[in-house]
This record gives sequence, structure tokens and C-alpha cells, in this order.
Amino acid sequence: MAGPVPELDARAEACADRLREADRVLLASHIDADGLTSAAVASTALERAGISFETVFAKQLDESEVARIAATEYDTVLFTDFGSGQLDVIAPREEAGAFTPVIADHHRPADAETEYHLNPLLFGIDGASELSGAGASYVLARALEPEGGDNRDLAALAVVGAVGDMQNSDGGLRGANAEIVEEGVAAGVLEEAKDLVLYGRQTRPLPKFLEYASDVRIPGISNDANGAVQFLSDLDFDLKADGEWRRWVDLTMDERKTLVSALLRRAIASGVPADRIENLVGTTYTLTAEEAGTELRDVSEFSTLLNATARYERADVGLAVCLGNRQGALDSARKLLRNHRRNLSEGLRWVKNEGTAVEEHVQWFDAGTRIRETIVGIVAGMAVGSGGISRSKPILAFAEKSDAEVKVSARGSHVLVRKGLDLSAVMREASRAVGGDGGGHDVAAGATIPKGTEREFVAEADRLVGEQLK
Ligand code: C5P
Ligand code: C5P
Ligand code: C5P
Ligand code: ZN
Repeated sequence: MAGPVPELDARAEACADRLREADRVLLASHIDADGLTSAAVASTALERAGISFETVFAKQLDESEVARIAATEYDTVLFTDFGSGQLDVIAPREEAGAFTPVIADHHRPADAETEYHLNPLLFGIDGASELSGAGASYVLARALEPEGGDNRDLAALAVVGAVGDMQNSDGGLRGANAEIVEEGVAAGVLEEAKDLVLYGRQTRPLPKFLEYASDVRIPGISNDANGAVQFLSDLDFDLKADGEWRRWVDLTMDERKTLVSALLRRAIASGVPADRIENLVGTTYTLTAEEAGTELRDVSEFSTLLNATARYERADVGLAVCLGNRQGALDSARKLLRNHRRNLSEGLRWVKNEGTAVEEHVQWFDAGTRIRETIVGIVAGMAVGSGGISRSKPILAFAEKSDAEVKVSARGSHVLVRKGLDLSAVMREASRAVGGDGGGHDVAAGATIPKGTEREFVAEADRLVGEQLK
């Protein structure tokens, strides 16, 4: 990528050279939308460069996972979407001669160093909002291009990864991400537009599209099935085609304009504040090579589909979908998606019903076994700012991981980050204080702690957040 940070590209070149030296590479990646797209981008680039490889996924790169990797015969390991936060575990293995790590990641690095380390945070680029794991993998993929090759088509997956990690803001993707968008547009695989930003533009029938949109609540439409249908019936166009509800993608430009203006009028009339109303329209990204009306066409829906696979131990399905090996994989992914949606909505209902315990600087809930530990962070993120759960304090969410361990997910807001919040430091320090480990980003982080230490962990996190926001 010929971006404004030549050092990042130079590091990518060094990493690419090292990978070309290897007989074969073990590619290890994280089990979420960003991790899957990272693996898809990296593996496609390795394949095109003629480097043989095998791909594995892990929920968390901890001591035992790194030991497992060290025990394989591979002497070159490419880590994508994790690795930086675990450098203190990886570096000693490298020194012991187990393998050479090449890392394309965007998480806060641990206190150790290695030569082939590609991370935006090392070059003054924000890893929480300007470049994702898939973005770092894309920068590496450009450096891996063989003579005359063109990997810019991989920008589409890199954007899915960035949006999957919530790097899309009201004004769209920024910084290094925006450059990747430009390359994807130039390569003809991406389209950027101003559009209604409600979730489900490609696949949701219009009434559900409006009813389920929860980011901006519109009285009488949001969470109101009859209200949504009534609102649509008052518009002057066909709502059904061949007896089926039409979707946002099925509407003509004029029909979309009609719907948007009616929605804005209703929002204003119902007293929705102007700054909330503005959030209804924003920058959207479309994968132009994918079929209209499918989850794969819209980056948000694509990333949710991927989370529905990888966070349920079916990363193989998500990777196959990313790589275009669709026979069977897409059907399986859709089944997993229905299950994921049900889990999200049941989890969200439970949290709203239960509420959070509010401390001086943080709020928290303990879902025990009611919410799967791999999605408790997504649920926590969706819960804040809705129902009785305030956005003004970071939220900590506990879920059981095993008989001995508890997973914690933490979510903040950009407003709090601007005031000094850094959840990756909070998760790391508070978890280490109780015998666990954690890390992540300033605005979203996680940890694993021993069962029974939750109270002590909350107290420690509360103290640390208090210090940061002082
Ligand atoms: O490993 P990791 O980068 O995957 O974690 C990303 C997680 O953090 C995602 O679940 C994403 O939704 C969350 N996140 C967030 N808000 C942000 C950035 C990330 O909730 N601004
Ligand atoms: O699952 P994922 O982390 O990709 O979800 C990202 C965002 O998409 C959620 O925070 C939520 O606002 C939205 N979403 C939704 N309906 C779903 C799944 C996700 O509105 N069924
Ligand atoms: O799992 P969750 O979506 O809450 O993860 C949020 C962030 O925290 C991710 O970036 C993840 O990689 C990081 N994390 C971590 N160590 C853990 C758990 C999560 O660094 N033990
Ligand atoms: Zn990521």
C-alpha cells in the first residue's frame, strides 16, 4: 500500500521477504470476523505467492496455544489478528528456536519485541479505529504480490474485517482503512455510498428491517412489528413483490428517498434528538462482486455471518465462505447465523431484564452460563445505550468459560476513550492482579480470570478506570 506511512510498508516488505524464505508456513488466526478475514486475506496472498501453508484458528493465543504451535514442525508461523498482545509468550519461544514469528496484528503489543512485527500501533496508526487485523494482513498481502500480481481485490475482505471490529464511524472508515477502501474501489470490488445505516439492507424484509433497527430508536417503529408495517403501508409504493416483502435492496432510488424522508419526518415528529437522527444516514460499503440480496453483499451483514461461524467453533465454514468455496459452506453459515441471532437476542433480553450492577466507575453483569463466552462481548456492546443500561460507564461482562475459568469482556465508548479510558490496560492489569491475563483495544478488551476472583477483579478494574478518567 503506497500510504502516508512508508515505515509500515517497509515492515510489510520485510515480513513478506521472510515468508518467501520459508518452505512452508503455519498461519494462525483469531476466531472472529476480523480474524477470519485476516486469514482469508493472508492465505490468498500466500497461495498467489506460491508459498505453501496450513491454517489454524484459536480462540485466544495463550501459553498453551503457543506451546501447541511450537510443538508443530513449522519453523515459520504467521500470526494474524493476534500475536502482538502475546509477544511476551511468543518471544521466548523464538529465542529457544521453536519458530520464527511473523505477526500482522492491531492489538496493543505486550512488553517484548520481534523483528517481523507488522502492527499499526508501532507506526502511529490507531489499531482500534484506523486499521484492523484484516487491514494489517492486507498491507502484508500487497507486499507479497508476485511480479505483475494485484492483490487489491482483497481490500473487500479487509473492509469486512474492519467493520467486524466496529472500526466504522459515522463518517465511514478513516486513516489507513480509508486508503484500503480507495484501493478496493479502484480494483472494482467495493462501493462506498451514503445510505441508511440500519442493519440488514440486503436480507431483511422491510418491516423487520425497520422494527429491529435499534441503534436509533424511533417510537412506534423500533421494536414495534405492527407499527413498522403501518408506517410502511402509509408510503406510496408496493411493499411486496410476488407475495414476498421487498427488502431495502429491492427498492428503486426514488422509493428509498421516499422511505428515508418519511422516516426522518417521523423521527422529528416523535421528538428524536437531531444528533440521533443524523446517525440514521452514514457511509456504507458494498461488495460489488457478491450477489445482491445476500449477506455477503453488505459488509456488516457479512461480518455478522462470519462471527456466527467462528465464535461457534466453525471457523472452517466462515473461511470457506470468505475464500469463495461456497458449495455447502454458505448454507451451513446461514444455519449458524440463525442460531447466532437467536443467541444475541436472547442474551440481550436477559441483560436488559437483569440490568447491571453499577460501581463508582464501571458497571457489570455476570451471565454465568446463560450467554456463551465467545459472544458475551457482542451482547454487552449491543446492550449499552439501550433500555436502562447507560453509556456513561464502561461495561464489564462475565461468562463462564470452564469449571476453573471466567471470561470477561469490556466495552467502552469513544467519548470515554477521549477522556483517557484504555480498557486494554485495565483488562491486562486487573486480570494479572487476580492471576489471569487479558488485553485488546482501548475501547473494547477482554480477559480470562480464575473463577471466584470476579469481585476482586471488578474492584481492581473500578480503581484503574477511576485513575484513567481522573
Ligand atoms: O480481537 P478483537 O479485535 O477481535 O476484538 C474486537 C471486538 O471489539 C469486536 O467484538 C468488536 O465488536 C469490539 N469493538 C467494539 N467497539 C469498537 C472496536 C471494537 O465494540 N470501537
Ligand atoms: O455480530 P456483530 O458483532 O457483527 O454485530 C455488529 C453489530 O451489528 C451489532 O452491534 C448490532 O448492532 C448489529 N447486529 C444487528 N442484528 C444482528 C446482528 C448484529 O443489529 N442480528
Ligand atoms: O472477546 P471480546 O470480543 O470481548 O474481546 C475483545 C478484545 O479483547 C479482543 O480484541 C480480544 O482479542 C481481546 N482479548 C484479550 N485477551 C482475552 C480476551 C479478549 O486480549 N483473554
Ligand atoms: Zn481484530
